[in-house]
Amino acid sequence: MSGSFKRTIDFLAVRRGGTYIDATVGLGGHSLEIAKRLGAPGHLIGLDKDPVALEIARKTLSLAVDRPDWPTITLLHRSFAEIANDQRPGLSTEFWPTSG
Ligand SMILES: C[S@@+](CC[C@H](N)C(=O)[O-])C[C@H]1O[C@@H](n2cnc3c(N)ncnc32)[C@H](O)[C@@H]1O
Repeated sequence: MSGSFKRTIDFLAVRRGGTYIDATVGLGGHSLEIAKRLGAPGHLIGLDKDPVALEIARKTLSLAVDRPDWPTITLLHRSFAEIANDQRPGLSTEFWPTSG
């Protein structure tokens, strides 16, 4: 893990058990590290407007699903621009408040 990558994740100060949104999940690299810190009580919501990237992220994150202490992961094909007024299932109020 590169120094800047680790500094980025450390900067997030991920709170164990929190609910986090990665609004540009991409290939899932950052989300994987966030998930490791969240633990089983946590929930990670990953968004991406690119369905191809989202499928790669799904694979990246599914590799670790058998880990004990793994958070709930929700991946959604969405643009972060829609978050505020997105009432479709998956992003509605039940996910608020988030920790980061
Ligand atoms: C640099 S990549 C993110 C890399 C990611 N953090 C990782 O660890 O793999 C940026 C991603 O943002 C996505 N993206 C760009 N604009 C977006 C938007 N409005 N809503 C959701 N995703 C977006 C792109 O499709 C791309 O997958």
